[in-house]
Amino acid sequence: MINKIKAVLVLYGKEVLKSEEFANAFKQTHHACSTVADHSLGVAVIAIAISMFLIHIHVKIELRYVVIAALCHDLGIIGRYEKYKNNIECCKRHPVDSVDVYRKIFGESNERIEDSIRNHMWPLTPVPPRYIEGVILTIADKVSATMEKIGVAPMRKLELAPIRFA
Ligand SMILES: [Fe+2]
Ligand SMILES: [Fe+2]
Repeated sequence: MINKIKAVLVLYGKEVLKSEEFANAFKQTHHACSTVADHSLGVAVIAIAISMFLIHIHVKIELRYVVIAALCHDLGIIGRYEKYKNNIECCKRHPVDSVDVYRKIFGESNERIEDSIRNHMWPLTPVPPRYIEGVILTIADKVSATMEKIGVAPMRKLELAPIRFA
């Protein structure tokens, strides 16, 4: 199963994984023991696993959107200590800034991907995600962040480091 998850991650995530923004995300720590990029990879892996299960039971999901939204969802947080006054402003603003990073990497807009990124902090921000891809991202983000906080970084377990350079 993990090889299938890795294949999906590279297939749909290659534009993000190769981007300068994602390379910079390895330089900023996140959730105490991770980096923004390692966290994003962890979220993507968990989101793909959830999606594969739901697709198996015939839930209609755009897997490509799940992968792109997961990899981009926190890229707007890069430079947080210079950009935001405090954690509350960071919580509200970084999803919106992450949408801008998504548009910069892809040069296009996509309502489902952007809504998923914009509302991934729900329920800490007031608007819930409108699409299934966003619901999956919201859950995967909390699972990965909690695992990182208790010292179980999913990326170290899954040996996904080579994907950084795909
Ligand atoms: Fe976030
Ligand atoms: Fe996150």
